[in-house]
Amino acid sequence: MSKDALTITDERTGKTYEIPIWEDTIRAMDLRQIKVNDDDFGMMSYDPAFKNTANTKSTITLVDGENGVLQYRGYPIEDLAENSDFLEVAYLILKGKLPTKIELEAWQKEISSLYELPDTIPSMLKTFPKDAHPMGVLSSSLSALGTLNPDARQVADGDIRWKHIKNMIAKVPALGAYFYRHSKGLDFVKPDPKLSYAGNFLRMMFHNGDGDYTPDPALEKAINVLFILHADHEQNCSTTAMRTIGSSQADPYSAAAGATAALYGPLHGGANEAVLRMLDEIGSVDNIPAFMESVKNGEQRLMGFGHRVYKNYDPRARIIKGVADEVFKVTEKNPMLDIALELEKIALSEDYFVQRKLYPNVDFYSGIIYQALGIPTAMFTVLFDIPRMVGWLSQWNELLQDSEQKIARPRQVYLGDQNLEFVPIENR
Ligand code: CMC
Repeated sequence: MSKDALTITDERTGKTYEIPIWEDTIRAMDLRQIKVNDDDFGMMSYDPAFKNTANTKSTITLVDGENGVLQYRGYPIEDLAENSDFLEVAYLILKGKLPTKIELEAWQKEISSLYELPDTIPSMLKTFPKDAHPMGVLSSSLSALGTLNPDARQVADGDIRWKHIKNMIAKVPALGAYFYRHSKGLDFVKPDPKLSYAGNFLRMMFHNGDGDYTPDPALEKAINVLFILHADHEQNCSTTAMRTIGSSQADPYSAAAGATAALYGPLHGGANEAVLRMLDEIGSVDNIPAFMESVKNGEQRLMGFGHRVYKNYDPRARIIKGVADEVFKVTEKNPMLDIALELEKIALSEDYFVQRKLYPNVDFYSGIIYQALGIPTAMFTVLFDIPRMVGWLSQWNELLQDSEQKIARPRQVYLGDQNLEFVPIENR
């Protein structure tokens, strides 16, 4: 009869061990009993970059990379992008269920009442050089916001955690938008709680002059969908940073500052910026063959392609292509789109990419849309960070309620010298 167990024979000792299987995994700690003798530390698994290690159990986001599936709390991303609003999705991700009408209205009201930044932050943002990278500034300003909220350090208190989850989700768009205004030498635009989360962000970025601001509905919808697509993506690099920092019981502002730093890198959220720089460099469809040769020769990467988990089309990229069509009906068509479409066409048919299962990811088309909306390239990753705050905080909250979790502390395989005799400086 089949049994949910793995039998391991250690050829060094001839001993056999039966390791229980749970959800297609074995517990790494069960390997520790495998020893050559009593003094042996015991077997560990070696997994640089966590390519095959589950660091947690979770009920938030499902990514099925082989089949190109993404679901938040069991709801397919396609349905949410089509029918939902970002704050509704945020509620779903954080609370685990879709809100009723009354719950949603209360949630929208509560978040919008927290949009405004405390006075210290706009003054601090003005001290950054105008050409500072917005992601460096965002990471710093999240830390700074944390210093104004000392009770956030009480991470064991569920009510206090919830208070700061709401505060951070409400304020992160203003942190991004205010620095954008400063970088352009423009006055700050205060948030408007009457506007949707996406509409308010557009207002703080682009409203000039007095009076009300009515966002273009097509552009507001585009930002809303892009925010939904970026809200969570389970255990990626920045979420792992958020969980790892949070596991030391640091406050969520500090953890999110660290997650923001992780997102900044070009292999992660910074790829949307890198894609635009790459398209700019290619310059025209005629230059694509030479560029592709250099990618295949390993001289550079096709940014916005490939994913650690998706080995089929990234479902977010498919939805984003549709958003691009809608946006270009309102804005001028971005000439970069032709280069991107041609790159995709070639990549999907060339052996190099097919064999390695490299498909466009979420970042391939998002930057083209942001650029058409008038958002500068250096700001693109900020537009990833704002919605991802929901996922990070949800993952952090889950971590703190998981009795199996402890401070994150991986092991290493030490290959360096040992027990050397100290050599006085004059004898070296
Ligand atoms: N262009 C060219 N070759 C690539 C690319 C690419 N974008 N991505 C992977 N490869 C090749 C790589 O050279 C390797 O080839 P070989 O087997 O001959 O050595 C093979 O594919 C496997 O690559 P890997 O680096 O082992 O894969 P990984 O799972 O460690 O990396 C990745 C995943 C997303 C970092 C990588 O695909 C990449 O660098 N892509 C470009 C950056 C990018 O678009 N990042 C955004 C990711 S999606 C949004 C997010 O999470 O932030």
